[in-house]
Amino acid sequence: MENLNQIESEILNKIKSAKDRSAYDLIKTQIFGKKGIITELFKKISDLEQSERKEYASRLNSLKTKVTDILEKKLTDFDQSEINKKLKNEKIDVTLPGRTYFTGKIHPVSQVIDEVTSIFSEIGFAVEEGPDVENEYYNFSALNTPENHPARDMHDTFYLNHSRDLLLRTHTSPVQIRTMLKGKPPFKIIAPGRTYRHDSDQTHSPMFHQLEGLHIDQNVNMGHLKGCLYYFVKKFFEVEKVKIRFRPSHFPFTEPSAEVDIGYKIQDGKIKIGEGDKWLEILGCGMVHPNVLKNVKVNPKKYQGYAFGVGIDRLAMLKYGINDLRAFFESDIRWLEFYGFDPLDVPTNYRGLSR
Ligand code: PHE
Repeated sequence: MENLNQIESEILNKIKSAKDRSAYDLIKTQIFGKKGIITELFKKISDLEQSERKEYASRLNSLKTKVTDILEKKLTDFDQSEINKKLKNEKIDVTLPGRTYFTGKIHPVSQVIDEVTSIFSEIGFAVEEGPDVENEYYNFSALNTPENHPARDMHDTFYLNHSRDLLLRTHTSPVQIRTMLKGKPPFKIIAPGRTYRHDSDQTHSPMFHQLEGLHIDQNVNMGHLKGCLYYFVKKFFEVEKVKIRFRPSHFPFTEPSAEVDIGYKIQDGKIKIGEGDKWLEILGCGMVHPNVLKNVKVNPKKYQGYAFGVGIDRLAMLKYGINDLRAFFESDIRWLEFYGFDPLDVPTNYRGLSR
C-alpha cells in the first residue's frame, strides 16, 4: 500500500509553496486533475485486496477532505490579500490639506443685464442686438444727428478710420435703427450691450453698458414712457417707493427729451434707494423724433413712441453698493469673488431678482 502519510506531507508542502493564484491553480490540477496525485490514488483501490480496500478508501477520503479544506482556505487567503493590496494602492490620504478651487462668479454687470431683461420681457419687450463696431450712419445720421452736429463731439467717439465712417458705437441707439429697418411696426424691444466713449473717471469708463428701449405703436405717448420707467425702477430696486426725477434734456433723436435721476441717500456707508436728497442720473429718454421714423420708413403720422437708454453699470453700482465703476473692468479675481453672483442664481421675476 502506498505510504499515504508521506504523500500527504508532500501535498501539504506543495500547497504551502504556492505564492499566487496561478501557482495555486497548477497545484490544484496536480492533485485533483485527471492524472492528479489523489485521482491516481483512488484509481488504485480496485488493485487492492478486498480486505485492504475499506481502510485504504476511508484514509484516502479523509486525506481528500483535508486537502480540499486546506486548498479552500488558501484560496480565500489569496482573495483577501488581493483586496488588501488593492486597497493599499488606492489609498487616499484624507489628512492632506484641501486644494482651493474657485467656482466662477457672475459679474455684477451680467447679473444686472439678466435682471433687466427679465423685467422687460415680462411686460412684452423682445431682446435685440447690434454690433459694437458701427458705421456713422446707424450711430449718428439715421438718429437725426447730422455731421457737424455738436452731439457728435459730445459723445467723445472712438473712430476706427480716417474717413470717420467706422466707429465704436457710442450708445445702443443704433439698434433702434437696425430693428426698425428690418421689420414693420409695432416695435417693442430692448437692446442691452457694450458702448464706448473716450471718457474715464469714477463714474465713467471708456467701455460701459447700456440698455436701449424702444416702443413704437399707434397710440404710444409720454405717459406710457413714464409708467414704464416707474414700473422698471420699482421692480429693479425691489422697493415700493421710488424717487424719480424727469429733467428736461436734449437728444437729437427724441423730442421732447428727458433725463431721469434716481433719489438716494447714503446711510451707514450704504446706498439707500428711494429716499434722501442725492440724485444719480441713470437714463436718457424721450419721444422718438419724427425724422428718425422717416429715416426708417415708418410713417410718423401714423406711428409714434418712446425710446430710452439706461446706463447698466450705474444701475449695478446703485443696487449693489459699488462705488467705483472702473473696478468693474479690472478683472480682479478678489473683487469678483466679493461682488459676483452664484452661477446657479439666475434672476427671475417670480423668485425675486437678487436673491
Ligand atoms: N442714446 C442716449 C445716450 O446714450 C440715451 C437715449 C436713448 C436718449 C434713447 C433718448 C432715447 O445718451
